Order: sequence, then C-alpha cells, then structure tokens
Amino acid sequence: MIVQRLREIQNRHGYLPDAELHTLARETGVPLYRIEEVSTFFPAFRPERDRPADLEVRVCRDYTCHLRGAADLLDPTKGLPRLERELAAALAKATGHGPCRVAVSGVSCLGRCDRAPAVWVERHRPPMGEHEHAWVYAGLTPDELEQVLREVATGGRPEPHWDAAHEPPSNAPYAEVVPDAPRAAGWEIDPYARDGRPRDYAAVRRVVESLTAGRPPVPPRGLPAKELDGWVDANYRPLAEMRASGLLGMGGAGAPAYGKWLDVWQQAGPEKYVVVNGDESEPGTFKDRELLLRTPHLIVEGLIVACLITGATAGYVYIRHEYPEQIAAVRAEIARAEALGACGEDVFGTGRPLPLAVFESPGGYICGEQSALLEAMEDRRAQPRNRPPELGANGLRDKPTAVNNVETIAWAPFIQLRGGAGYAGGGWRVPGRPDLGFGGRRLFSVSGDVRRPGVYEVPVGLPLGDLLGRPEYCGGVVGGPLKAVAPSGPSCGLLPARLPVDAKFREQVDDRVKRIGERSAADAAFARWFVDAHLPPGAADLDVLALPLDLTFFRNLQGLIRLPVEPMLGAGLAVYAGAADALDHAVNFTEFYRNESCGKCVPCRLGSQKLVQIGTDLLRRRADGTGPDLPGLVKDITATLQQTSICGLGYVAPIPLATALAYFTSDVNIQRGNHG
Ligand code: SF4
Ligand code: FES
Repeated sequence: MIVQRLREIQNRHGYLPDAELHTLARETGVPLYRIEEVSTFFPAFRPERDRPADLEVRVCRDYTCHLRGAADLLDPTKGLPRLERELAAALAKATGHGPCRVAVSGVSCLGRCDRAPAVWVERHRPPMGEHEHAWVYAGLTPDELEQVLREVATGGRPEPHWDAAHEPPSNAPYAEVVPDAPRAAGWEIDPYARDGRPRDYAAVRRVVESLTAGRPPVPPRGLPAKELDGWVDANYRPLAEMRASGLLGMGGAGAPAYGKWLDVWQQAGPEKYVVVNGDESEPGTFKDRELLLRTPHLIVEGLIVACLITGATAGYVYIRHEYPEQIAAVRAEIARAEALGACGEDVFGTGRPLPLAVFESPGGYICGEQSALLEAMEDRRAQPRNRPPELGANGLRDKPTAVNNVETIAWAPFIQLRGGAGYAGGGWRVPGRPDLGFGGRRLFSVSGDVRRPGVYEVPVGLPLGDLLGRPEYCGGVVGGPLKAVAPSGPSCGLLPARLPVDAKFREQVDDRVKRIGERSAADAAFARWFVDAHLPPGAADLDVLALPLDLTFFRNLQGLIRLPVEPMLGAGLAVYAGAADALDHAVNFTEFYRNESCGKCVPCRLGSQKLVQIGTDLLRRRADGTGPDLPGLVKDITATLQQTSICGLGYVAPIPLATALAYFTSDVNIQRGNHG
C-alpha cells in the first residue's frame, strides 16, 4: 500500500522527506524509482526537493470560486499573493526560526463550491495540531481572508470552516420526524431517519435472510443472457430489487447499478471487490461530501449489501483527501458496523467474513475515473485503463470489481427495505398525467447565483425551474435574470437561458420521437408531451428551466431538437445570472480540464492546452482586438479528442468552449465590431 503510506507521510510532514521515502522503500521492498514514479504523478504529494513553503495558501480557481472572485484573489498585484512577504515576515517573527516562505497559489475544486471561494491553508512552521494537516476557509470576503491569513501567520488558529459546522441548505420535508437529527435526515434516501428507527443494519439482515450461509446463489450454467433477468427475478430477490429499482449510477455515466452488480455476481473466483467511488472532484459537485459526512451508515450498509449480493470478498470506500471529516466518519461507521456484526470477521453469524476499509485518495480529478481510481489503489499512477477488459471481470487486482458512486451505494439500503418499486415510484410525474414521468430520486448539488446553494434530493425528472426556483429547494435565481446553467459540472459547458431550436425541427419531430420509441416507449411518450407543451409551432427556442432533470431525457434531447453541442446532466449544477461572462467561464472550465489531464493520450495532453490557448486568444481579441480568431479550430480539436481519448475527460474538454461559441456569441464577439 505505497500510496496510502505516501498519503500518511504527506499528511504528517506536509511533504515527502527523502529519509521517509528511503524507509518506505526498505520496509516494503519496493524500489525507490517505483516510489518516485508514483509519488510524482500526484500534485498533492510534494517531494523534499520541492518542499512547500512554511505557509501554503491554495485558492480554488475553478467554477463557482471563479464566479466568486478567485481570479482576483490570485492576482499578484491586488490579491493575496501581494501579502506573501508581509506574512512571511510575520511568520518568521512569530516562530523565531529565521526566514520563512509564504506561497499563494491556485488549486482545483476543493468540494466546497456552495461556500465559494474556498481556500486550503497549510502551516508548516510551526506545525499544525495533531491530526490536522490543513484548514479550509470558505465563503469569506477578500478582507476577511486577509485577516484570517494574518492570524495564521502570527501563530493563531482561526476556526476553520470544516463541513460539520456548515450544514448546507437542503430540503428536509420530513425533518419533524426526527427533530434532533441532522438535516440530511429529511432525505428519503435515509429510511432510518425517515422512520425514526435505530440504524441497525436492517437492510443487511434482510439480504442475509435471502442467502444461504451468507453466499449468493449461483446462476445455472449456460443460461442465455436474455433469460438471466427472469431467473434473477424468480430466484434472487435482493438482486431482483435492484433490477426493479432501475437505479442508475449517480457518478455521471449513469450505467444501471443492477448491470454492474450482475456482472460481478456472475463471475466465479475466490476474490471479488466492491469499491465506492467517493473521489468527487468534479467542480460544483458536493453531494457525496454531505452523504459521507452526515449519513455514513448508508454508505457502509450499502457497501455491505453490494458485497453480499455480488459475492464480493472485500469492500473499499475511496474518499478524496480533502474530505478529512468524511474519512473519519466512514472509518468510525465501519468500526460501529463491525461491532454490530454487520461486517468484519463474520457477517451476522453466517460465518462469512467481510472486511471493509477506507482508501484515502492521493488526490487529482482523474482519480474519479473508475479505472484510474483502481490504478491508484494498486499503487500505480492514476491513469485510466484501456477497456475492454471491463472492470466487472478484470477490476481491482485484476479481479471482478463493481465501482459505484457514493450516492448509488447509499440508495441500496432504501431499495432493500422499501423494494425496488418503492424507489422507482419516487420519480416526477407530469401534473394531471400520472402515465407520463420518470422513476426514482436523486441528489443534486447546486452552486452559483441562487438564493440557497446546497444539496437537494429531488424526484428524478423534476423540472430544472422547480429545483432552482421553489422555496424548499434553491429559492430562486439571484444577481439578475438567469443567463446560463452548467448542468454537469464543467463537462457540458454552459446552456443559455433559452436554447435555440433548429428551424426544421417541427418537420422531423415525428421521426425523432419514433427513434426514441425504439429504445423506450415511455421516453417517447414523454418526449412527445414535452414538445407539445414547451415547443409550440413556430417556437425558436426552448426555456432551459423546462428541462426535466433526467439523464436519459438529456441524452434524448440531442436527438430530439439537434442542439449544436451535446447536452449532459451531472450531479453538480452551477447557475450564472446577470452579466456573467460566458466566454470567461468557458475558458476557466477548459483550464480545469487542461490542469487535470493525466497526459496519457497525446491528443488530450496537447489538445486541452491548445483549447486554453484558443480561449485565451478569444478573450484577448475581445478585449483589444489583437488575438487570432480561430474558433473554427475548436471543431477540429473536438472531433480529434472525442475520437481518440481513452477516458471521458478528453471527450468533454472541448465542450465548454464549444458551448460559448454556439450559444453566447455576443460574449465572444463583444469588441469584434470595433476591431474588425
Ligand atoms: S483522455 Fe486525457 S485524462 Fe483521459 S486518459 Fe487520456 S490523457 Fe488521461
Ligand atoms: S470549491 Fe471551488 S469550485 Fe468547488
């Protein structure tokens, strides 16, 4: 476990001292060059030759922090860097240890986008307290931040803004059931809080009752794939409930959870794994932060349920290192579950052992890609794998592995206790048309220009306008009229308040709806209703607030109205109002992908930098007319990246700029008229 040892050394010293690396090599028998190879991949690991400053201040430069002035905070002349010398002198005086260094720099999303801007502070002289390796400060004005840094530099410890003390707005319609429980209790995802009953691992007990000696049944040999679902329905209740739920993966790709579990269950062999992906590094996404912190019992119970159903022999919860409270909460819950007998040496008297553990991520957005995450767990650079083989057969340590998002796993106890139909029945329905609608519930994190940025559990398919506007959710857009929405972190770029519709759309709508119907009659019926309700004949555009928050609908939308850029739906939504500058934000999104590219594919490594250059040139051209005008290149780079990239990062990297060029021409061209 080199990566975990490196993480522990980094947390203890703030960097990786050479002596510690030599000791690690000696103790593990792993050559030093291998340790170097791994440690130098992760930017959060700092070698001794690149020791951090005595006081490191890292300002999140992404997404809503950018919207809330991160660029100004990082400006060398008017932002925090101008304080470096003053703070260094104060630190040297306070410690009496000679000259000190202070460094202010940018960092990728810290997962506190609802409290932007977020700042990560490490003080290496004098060291921070025991069990502390960093402090987070979030949602402060520039003056307040300066004050905090002055206090830190003079040896103080201004109270950090950790997550436990900053419960975000959330919808809690059932909070009165358990008035003293944390706000997350209101979410239906937590059947214990909802019913006011003890967290006694009832879902695990329920699954155990369906198994013999804690083991899943073995499907008949040679059963044709198309008959397998029927066999599961008739013979394997816990897995059949997952199928009936229709639960989709909540990490972005939306693969059915049932399918992943089915794949692993079918694999024979002495070792199989389930890994919960809590890397959550997509800017604007912080729902898993809240689930891990406030409902760790759901994560641990869901993981046990998944292991029992698939026959996995061990389970892991992989959590980003910037979430220390969440890591502690899940570790404590695993210990509680072991004490209850729900995991550990013997799951509820079945004689079946089931070890669970937390893996603290070495850091980096690419670790959220499921195969890259497994690479990191195997002590390698976190670079996505070429697939096939798929992870269901060749995952962690080349063994069958299901990798599920935190929220996907957290729904498993609900589904086992209330039934798959109980989950599927929770979706949004068209008022007055119970035959039209969606299945299930899910969480969204919303940040940016709304009254109440926070984490909301909603019926799948709820119109975007309801989530942003209704008082029990975000409470409305602030800072001017809605200008744009980023519905999938930076991956889908920006959608304008009104989406332009292809003029020929009406002539082809029947064919397009028919094509959707080849996959799903229910989706086609909804698409037809949606067109009639929101796109009357002659409509030139579509109100973005009418879009239902359903992954499949977003996918179908491209086929339905032929948008210039493919829309996507993720779990992190950002809202931009008033005079927000779409081109500036699109360039900021592009910089994020450039910064986080793992460099494995040449087109992504070079193309993402080229995109940033084009975006920067467009900004310059707009400002003073001097930059080259190369938006046509974006199309070529998009095609290349989307055809050649190994993972989704390369696929989505060009999209932000493409949406700015397609939808926000006035922001791109502001000065073009003046400069020719
Ligand atoms: S597409 Fe980019 S991030 Fe993904 S594997 Fe290739 S280089 Fe790495
Ligand atoms: S914390 Fe800054 S964008 Fe997420």
